[in-house]
Amino acid sequence: MKNIHIAIDGPAGAGKSTIAKRLAQEIHIDYLDTGAMYRALTYHILQLNVDVEDEETIIKEAEKIDIDFNNNCIYLNGINVDIDIRTQKVSNNVSAVSKFARVRELMVDKQREIANGKSVIMDGRDIGTVVLPKAEYKFYLDASIDIRAQRRYEQLDQNMDIEELKRDIANRDKMDQTREVSPLKKADDAIVIDTSNMTIDEVLQTMKSIINEEEGE
Ligand code: DC
Repeated sequence: MKNIHIAIDGPAGAGKSTIAKRLAQEIHIDYLDTGAMYRALTYHILQLNVDVEDEETIIKEAEKIDIDFNNNCIYLNGINVDIDIRTQKVSNNVSAVSKFARVRELMVDKQREIANGKSVIMDGRDIGTVVLPKAEYKFYLDASIDIRAQRRYEQLDQNMDIEELKRDIANRDKMDQTREVSPLKKADDAIVIDTSNMTIDEVLQTMKSIINEEEGE
């Protein structure tokens, strides 16, 4: 089979990574969580106590660090940071760190390098618009803010206030949608799936039937 690239974009908590991971397993192709890369850099910056608005230092660090994946786990300078990058503190600061043009350039180069010459599913904010504009399949997953906050609430094993979670998600969406460089937006040729009232299996079925139909299966 020829190499295919599948881009999945959408706001926080729309189900992108859960769906992307499952789809990758089911159709036997690689998965790349691009959000994890921005999170790893943000985690590193916070560890160093660098201000998240200090563009110069953030760029210097982004150029220095090594971010790598092995078996869907993310490594920062050789250390597995899967758990460390999922804290609320990282979530609340990642949009600030990922708005800088040079940071995005470095991440996008790495993402394209990973996708080069093989089939891959990538999820993020700018995959269909910037990273893989020629992807064979582009999906934009969305869901209402209430549902997205509820899903995050259920995922987090923390005593979070759901209203606070909703505010954090709305803030992050706003920053991701309004940044100057490659903001979150639907690619013109992306298929929108509103997952608000769908199960994971239903979303997967919808995507797989679109892919199979076009692959002539
Ligand atoms: O998918 P996620 O929630 O783990 O992403 C975390 C943040 O990383 C997101 O709020 C914005 C940034 N991000 C980005 O700017 N571009 C991407 N392709 C993926 C994530």
